[in-house]
Amino acid sequence: MNGQTPLLSIRDLVIELGGRRLVDVTDLSVARGEIVGLVGESGAGKSLLLSSILGLTPANASISGSILFDGVELRGAPERLLREVRGRRIAVVLQAARAALTPTLKAGTWIERALVLHRVPAAERRERIDHALEAVRLDPALMDRYPHQLSGGEAQRVAVALAVALNAELVLADEATSALDVTVQAEVAELFRDLRAREGTSLLIVSHDLALVAGLADRIDIIAEGSIVERGGPSVLSDPKHEVTHELVAANPTLERAREIAG
Ligand SMILES: Nc1ncnc2c1ncn2[C@@H]1O[C@H](COP(=O)(O)OP(=O)(O)O)[C@@H](O)[C@H]1O
Ligand SMILES: [Mg+2]
Repeated sequence: MNGQTPLLSIRDLVIELGGRRLVDVTDLSVARGEIVGLVGESGAGKSLLLSSILGLTPANASISGSILFDGVELRGAPERLLREVRGRRIAVVLQAARAALTPTLKAGTWIERALVLHRVPAAERRERIDHALEAVRLDPALMDRYPHQLSGGEAQRVAVALAVALNAELVLADEATSALDVTVQAEVAELFRDLRAREGTSLLIVSHDLALVAGLADRIDIIAEGSIVERGGPSVLSDPKHEVTHELVAANPTLERAREIAG
């Protein structure tokens, strides 16, 4: 696909579960190399929306609309195609990054196995891993550690290193920094910015923390009760229009911190 087409383009996405309409998004897109923030209160439908991109919504959910990734329809796509995309072209970084690693595998082995699984040729693996560790500034010595021997921030870096090693085009981060303390949050924000700068990776950053996202994203979509209610640049933080955005700002009265993160 050409550079004009958004990498991710969601249209008229409706997700219903148990007779409730939980997501109703007319449009949401992420361009190549763009960082988009999706911010809303707990229960707004953020995780459900993300899971639909990867075809991982609960089995009893009904989904309509379109989820184009690099011009290919993912909504209702065969499992075979989704497996190709999931984890490799679209990587996910979750709040509990440590839990996403395999407890019985050293971090290095975990990354290596994922590369094998996605059929990266043996001859390329070493170089890809070295490149990824450098990209996320992770000490190679940590590759010999088990997940329980890593801090929360280090585990996040391992998850992001895998995305780099697999050459992921889009990273979906779901409350990726919420469990971390403030200094580590700022480091992860820096890491995401670096990832875009060095690798050209697109990111969709989902969070309830408007201040963190405002310091990081090119554009921000505010979601409430499953729908986008406001969108704009990071200035939505200083000049919110919608009541929900006001509330999100009020819940995070740390503009100072947003500026710090913005650098
Ligand atoms: N598996 C599920 N079954 C039924 N309801 C669900 C399920 N997952 C999420 N929901 C409901 O969907 C809404 C949105 O949830 P979620 O996407 O997790 O919100 P967020 O990530 O924004 O906090 C909530 O009302 C939640 O209770
Ligand atoms: Mg969530």
